[in-house]
Amino acid sequence: MPKQKPARHFASDNYAGICPEAFAAMTEANNAHAISYGEDTWTEKASNLLRDVFETDCEVFFVFNGTSANSLSLAALCQSYHSILCHELAHVEGSECGAPEFFANGTKVLLLPGAAGKIDPKSIERAVSKRTDIHYPKPRALSLTQATEVGTVYTLDELHELAQIARRFQLRIQMDGARFANAVASLGVAPKEITWQAGVDVLCFGGTKNGLAIGEAVVFFNRELAREFDYRCKQGGQLASKMRFLSAPWVGMLQEGAWLRHARHSNAMAKRLEKGIRNLPGVKVAYSVDSNAVFARIPDAAVEAMHQRGWHFYTHIGGWEESRLMCSWDTTTEDVDQFVADLSELIS
Ligand SMILES: Cc1ncc(COP(=O)(O)O)c(C=O)c1O
Repeated sequence: MPKQKPARHFASDNYAGICPEAFAAMTEANNAHAISYGEDTWTEKASNLLRDVFETDCEVFFVFNGTSANSLSLAALCQSYHSILCHELAHVEGSECGAPEFFANGTKVLLLPGAAGKIDPKSIERAVSKRTDIHYPKPRALSLTQATEVGTVYTLDELHELAQIARRFQLRIQMDGARFANAVASLGVAPKEITWQAGVDVLCFGGTKNGLAIGEAVVFFNRELAREFDYRCKQGGQLASKMRFLSAPWVGMLQEGAWLRHARHSNAMAKRLEKGIRNLPGVKVAYSVDSNAVFARIPDAAVEAMHQRGWHFYTHIGGWEESRLMCSWDTTTEDVDQFVADLSELIS
């Protein structure tokens, strides 16, 4: 029987609520009328704060979720006869119900292999030069997920190597940054170093998993590619009429650095969790814990018993054999320690 029902879970960083900074900004935005469809001062302020964060004059759009951010940004990079190269575990491939192909009018997604959720640089050349005839969908975009689907983080050197190859083959780079904040916190770099200075044309900057209620920012460093993106958003159902409620929370997150603080915290919780479980009998941590995720093989009986104790976490996501344990901005050390204590008791 459970000793104490878990207060929070490790199933997903989407389980967490809204962080106080985002909530406060939303409350403030609710105090008055504001111009609709993004012409309001909150949206202007949030866009300018993003320009400050990236230290460049980028084009910024706010959309409701990661699927739309990824699909619409990829559509902006490609014609229908192009292809998008991404890792075989990428969200754009397996978790967006074909939205990138749909919004890009049939652009094909081609899958690349690579250990630990990272694209093997050699596989790009293989995919591009495999066929150059008119019958093959011409590779045009490289989609990188930072942090990756398995919680690892591309280093600066790895990004530069990928960007160099992308440049050689005239591939534009889109970054799925649903957990971009966690990657920045993990690497301890300036955001510009792993985006536009590393050749990224457009970033989908995740807000939801970082503590917003809802919403991602699509940030174009290559401003030419943002031409008419506002129409694409509108047509794709992504132009919020009360835009201030998408943008104000970003102001709350960015103005005093809450976004990085929350990311550092969730990363630290994942490290603590890894440390707590990695030496338990039968447990094997599957990947380097670089961000807020721990992927671990846990004996089936222990997984079942943990679920019975009320712990929510996913197993075999997308065909993986590991349990995925995600930490959030609101995960506490007590949550981690209680999980570790329960698992230790059940496994030994
Ligand atoms: C790597 C990655 N990209 C994008 C998303 C955003 O997806 P959604 O459309 O559910 O906001 C997620 C969410 O799980 C994700 O893990």
